Amino acid sequence: MGLSIAATPRHLAAIVSGKATLKKVVNLKAVKAGVNGPYTFSVEGMDPNTREIFLVRAGSKVTALEGTCRHKGCPIAWVAGDKKFECPCHGSQYSMTGKVVQGPATADLYKHAVTVTAGQVWVMTTRAAK
Ligand code: FES
Repeated sequence: MGLSIAATPRHLAAIVSGKATLKKVVNLKAVKAGVNGPYTFSVEGMDPNTREIFLVRAGSKVTALEGTCRHKGCPIAWVAGDKKFECPCHGSQYSMTGKVVQGPATADLYKHAVTVTAGQVWVMTTRAAK
C-alpha cells in the first residue's frame, strides 16, 4: 500500500513547515467503491475550521472532496440516483470527481491530498492546489 494520490511539492513543503498535517479519517476497508461519507474534517486556516469531506474510491485510488459548495458555501449532498453532488441552496451540481456541471457555482469542489498507509486513509488538512 502506498500513496494513492501523490502529495505535490507544495504539500510536502506544508508538511515540513508544519502548516498542514495528515489526519486519519477511516480504515480503507470501510471505503466502498464510489462516494463515501460525509466525514467531519478539520481544515487548516479556515473559520470555522470544520468541513465535511467525501471520499471517492475508484479501485485503489481514493480522492477527498470537500462538501462545501463553491458558490456561497452551503453543504452539498451526494445524490446517488443522479450520480451528482447537489447543493440545496441554489442548485449547483458537481460530478463524482468534483467538477462543477451546473451553476451558479463556477469552480470545482476543493480537494485534499490523500495518503493510504497501513490500511488507513489519511487526508491533508489543507486544501490541495487546483
Ligand atoms: S451555495 Fe450552493 S448553489 Fe449557492
